[in-house]
Amino acid sequence: MIDYTERIPNNVDLASDKTLQRALERWQPAFLNWWTDTGPASSSQLQVYLRTAISVDRDGWANFGFVRMPDYRWGIFLVPRDDNRSIPFGDHQGQPAWQEVPGEYRSTLRRIIVTQGDTEPASVEQQRLLGMTAPSLYDLRNLFQVNVEEGRHLWAMVYLLQRYFGRDGREEAEALLERRSGDANKPRILTAFNDPIRHWLAFFMFAYFTDRDGKFQLASLAESGFDPLARTCRFMLTEEAHHMFVGESGVARAIQRTCEVMRDHKVNDPAQVRALGVIDLETIQKFINFHYSATLDLYGSEVSSNAATYYTTGLKGRASETKLTDDHKLASAEYTVHEVSGGRIVPKPVPALTALNARLRDDYIREIQAGLDRWNRIPAQLGVPFRFALPHVGFNRRIGAFAGHHITPDGQVLSEADWKSHQQDWLPSLDDHAFIESLMGRVVEPGKFANWIAPPVRGVNNQPVEFEYVRFN
Ligand SMILES: [Fe+2]
Ligand SMILES: [Fe+2]
Repeated sequence: MIDYTERIPNNVDLASDKTLQRALERWQPAFLNWWTDTGPASSSQLQVYLRTAISVDRDGWANFGFVRMPDYRWGIFLVPRDDNRSIPFGDHQGQPAWQEVPGEYRSTLRRIIVTQGDTEPASVEQQRLLGMTAPSLYDLRNLFQVNVEEGRHLWAMVYLLQRYFGRDGREEAEALLERRSGDANKPRILTAFNDPIRHWLAFFMFAYFTDRDGKFQLASLAESGFDPLARTCRFMLTEEAHHMFVGESGVARAIQRTCEVMRDHKVNDPAQVRALGVIDLETIQKFINFHYSATLDLYGSEVSSNAATYYTTGLKGRASETKLTDDHKLASAEYTVHEVSGGRIVPKPVPALTALNARLRDDYIREIQAGLDRWNRIPAQLGVPFRFALPHVGFNRRIGAFAGHHITPDGQVLSEADWKSHQQDWLPSLDDHAFIESLMGRVVEPGKFANWIAPPVRGVNNQPVEFEYVRFN
């Protein structure tokens, strides 16, 4: 169980390590200042129906109740240590999992933790203004739940930095509160985390596509030979599942509403659909194209010697490493990646060890496609002929084998001129963003929803949909 009598709730017996406890208690007010400055705008007085972790068990870890967000009990929760755990892959396979940082991997491991940690506050900053245009109290509550949990994910990484990396770790923990999403001088580390999320369609897409990248990165770190990292990532994964649910169900509800309006008014033309105050399916497809391609860049280059090193040294595994049945060393295995050659996209077998980014990305794509298939059942059920499709993996890429090439959604290689003349058909334009922003307006009456989105099938924690999820006084 988690100790909530402490100033910093935790299940790591923080009280027995006074130096660490003092370091974290010094970081805590800086975190709260960061939350006030860059967290959800105008939210500090609201009472929000939030869940808080009460234990790290798979079932029943969450306790629901009304909380003012600055009073949320951010803390440090790791799944319990398994003293028999061994390193499941790489050169150290079979050795006892590390309980302290191996000296030779110290800087690499610190960089992995900092890069993951940096995405957590970044996403809170990106989503700062969304509460002002929430389509319902239900959605406002879900946004805030995601935000407080991303804040907790920052705590998870900062604990590792402060507990295991000494002075460098403390400096990195401070720097995590100093960088800002979109700031030209001190931006967040990864590109996809520097664009503001301007409206709720983008938020739901981000939670579907980009939080799911988070899931896969955490799943591979949950296999790490560095046991405290593995244990903290395992608990973070339980929170990430909710973020992906918010994204998938949010997009589904927008599709549902649009298809209902198309059916009721017998319209198909995007301009007529827009005139009825809902988001045309063609525009939703463009947002799928954008968020999917931007998120694929987060996996890095398909072929990467860094990825190979992380694996052989036991720092970062594959998703579900312990369930895979190969040698867990990949000494002679191959994996097929794709590249552009002679104006065409061709397959290329490479050593599997170097293709671990591509492999993790391909695992991700399978899950993304399954969700897209679920979205496609909505127009099918409502008699609307439109179907969504994922663009080619090379479409709109900035990183890896397709960077610098112009690939259509169906995988044709184009000249730059041809790409430029078609780009607005495939990616959201400023006008598309402006149209969607024109639909956004805050709806705060319990049980009411903005015109562009359908109500959810059920409420939170068995509460009715019309429950007052956020109280304004
Ligand atoms: Fe997160
Ligand atoms: Fe998340």
